Amino acid sequence: MCGIVGISANRPIVQHLIAGLAALEYRGYDSAGVALLTGDGISRLRAKGKVRDLVALQAETGLDGHCGIAHTRWATHGVPSEGNAHPHVSGQVSLVHNGIIENHAALRRELQAEGYEFSSQTDTEVVAHLVERAQRQGLGLLAALQDTVKRLHGAYAIAAVSAREPGTVVGARYGAPLIVGLGEGEQYLASDVHALLPLTKRFMYLEEGDVAEVTVGGIRIFDLDGAPAEREVKESHFSADAVELGEYAHYMLKEIHEQPVAVADTLEGRIAGGKILTQIFGVDAERLLADTQAVHIIACGTSYHAGLVARYWIEQLAGVPCTAEIASEYRYRDPVVREGTLFLTISQSGETADTLAALKLAKERPYLARMAVCNVPESSIVRESALVLMTRAGPEIGVASTKAFTTQLVALALFSLALARAKGLDDERYSDGVRQLERLPGHIAEVLKLDEEIKELAEQFIGKHHALFLGRGTHWPVAMEGALKLKEISYIHAEAYAAGELKHGPLALVDEDMPVIAVAPNDRLIDKLKSNLEEVRARGGVLYAFVDETVAHGLDAARVVILPASGEIAAPIISTIPLQLLSYHVAVQRGTDVDQPRNLAKSVTVE
Ligand code: AGP
Repeated sequence: MCGIVGISANRPIVQHLIAGLAALEYRGYDSAGVALLTGDGISRLRAKGKVRDLVALQAETGLDGHCGIAHTRWATHGVPSEGNAHPHVSGQVSLVHNGIIENHAALRRELQAEGYEFSSQTDTEVVAHLVERAQRQGLGLLAALQDTVKRLHGAYAIAAVSAREPGTVVGARYGAPLIVGLGEGEQYLASDVHALLPLTKRFMYLEEGDVAEVTVGGIRIFDLDGAPAEREVKESHFSADAVELGEYAHYMLKEIHEQPVAVADTLEGRIAGGKILTQIFGVDAERLLADTQAVHIIACGTSYHAGLVARYWIEQLAGVPCTAEIASEYRYRDPVVREGTLFLTISQSGETADTLAALKLAKERPYLARMAVCNVPESSIVRESALVLMTRAGPEIGVASTKAFTTQLVALALFSLALARAKGLDDERYSDGVRQLERLPGHIAEVLKLDEEIKELAEQFIGKHHALFLGRGTHWPVAMEGALKLKEISYIHAEAYAAGELKHGPLALVDEDMPVIAVAPNDRLIDKLKSNLEEVRARGGVLYAFVDETVAHGLDAARVVILPASGEIAAPIISTIPLQLLSYHVAVQRGTDVDQPRNLAKSVTVE
C-alpha cells in the first residue's frame, strides 16, 4: 500500500528519499513521486510504474534539494497514472497522503466553487488545496495542516512541504501510521521504519490525531486537541540487513526458508520445563484464561486462515466455544458478545484497516479483554490491544505471507494449549502438544529439503488455469491458505474446499485439467479424506497429495509428497510449507512478479 518518506536536512537528500521509497516497495504500489524544495520553489518528479522509473527521471533531470517528500501510491481513487501519482501540488504547497479521505467529493465541490482547479482524480488533491488555502489565509504550514485535518473524514497519514517555509516538513496521522525519525542534524518522517533504517534507528511513533513538524533544528508534535505532546523515543531492533535479499532470488523464497528460525524465535522464552509460561499473555493472564468462556477471532486474509486453524484447537483442546471471522464483515454487523468472551485479533502488519476498525468496535463491547497476535511492535493494533503476543517472524517483505502465517500458528497454538490447560487439559495431551511445538523448527527444516522435488512438481501447473485444494479439520484452512498463495502470486484461479463438501457441487469441475491438491496428514479424519480422494480419482481428476509418512502407503494419486509425521498440532504448520513452495515455484515458472503481485499491497491500510 502507499508509502511516505519526508526529510529535512542540510545536505542533498534525493537519493535518501528514493532509497526510502525502494525500501517501501514491498508494500505494493503502482506509481511513485518525489517533491523537493529548490531555489525555484517546488520541483517534483512523478512516474507511473516502479521506483526505478523515478530513478531514471531523477538521473535525467538531476533534481535534488535539502528538504522534500516522496511517495509510493497504491491507487484507490483514480487509475494508476502520472497525473494521479503523489506528491500533489497546490500553489506553494506539495503533499503526499496514505489512506482515504471519505468526504473528498464534498470538499472538492467546495474548493471548485472557490476557483480551485483539480488536475487529478484523487481524493488527496483536496488536502493539498486545503493546506494551500489555509496558508494563503495567513497560517504557517504547521497550523495550516492542523486546520486542514479538522475538515477531513476518513483515514490519513500526510506529509507536506511548502515553498513559503523551506526546510520544514509537516505530517499528520489518523488511522494510518506515520513515524518521526531522529537523525544527527536532520530529521525524518515516514510511514514505516524500514524506509529510514539506513538513516536512523531512533523513532517516535505518532499517535492518532498527532500533527508533527520536523526541521533540521528539531521536532515539534501536537496532539489531537492541538496541545504540545511528547512521544517516547524508541530504538528499532530491525537492521537494514534484515530486509536485504541476500543469496535468494525473491523475498518470498528467503522468508519461506527463514521459517525454522522464525518459529524457534517465536517459541523462545515462552516454554520452560515442558510448560507454557502463562505470563507471556500478560501479567493477569492466569485469571484471564480461567475467566475465558468464549473466543472471537477477527482477522483478514492469511491471518484469518490462522484464526480458522486456532478455532479447531481452541474448541478441541480447551472445550471453549470459538468463532473466527473476517474483520471486514465483523465491523459492519452487530456481534452478540456473551459474558467472558475474549476478543482476539491476528495481524502480521498490525495496520490492516479492517482489523483495526474491528478492534476499535470491540472496545465498545463488553469483551473480557482484547488480545492481539501481531508481528510488528509499535503497530496500531499492538498499541490498541490490552494483551499482546508477538510473533517474531522479523520483517516480512514478500506480499504473500509465509513466515508470518506459520509464526501466527505457533503463537495461537501456545495460546490454545495454555487456555486448554487452564480448563483442565490432561497432562498427557498438554505435554504432547508442547513437545510438538518444540520439535517444529527441526521438522520445518526437514520439509524445506523437499524444495527441489516441489520445484519439479510445479512444472505440471504452469499451463493450468484452475486448481482445487482439499483438506479436512485444521487442514481445511491450510488448504484455503494454499489456494490463496497460488492465486495471489501465480494468478491461477484456485479454490479450497472442505473435502467432505466436494460431492455437494465442486466435484462437477473435476477433470484432467483441474489439478486437485490434497493436504492429508494422519489425523482422525484421514479415512474420510481418503474416501473423498477416491471420488476425485474416479472422475479422472489428477490428484497431488501432501501426506504424512504414516498414511502414504497405497494412496492413489498422480504424485505423493511425503511429510514428516509431526502430531495433530504441528501438522497444519508442517503441511503449509510445501504449499508455499509449490505456489512460489509455479509463480516463478510462470514469470509473475512473485514479491509484488499485481493489484496487491502488503499492508492494507485502507478499507
Ligand atoms: C496474504 O498473503 C496477504 N498478504 C493478505 O491476505 C494478508 O494476510 C492480509 O491482508 C492481512 O494482513 P495482516 O496480517 O497484516 O493484517
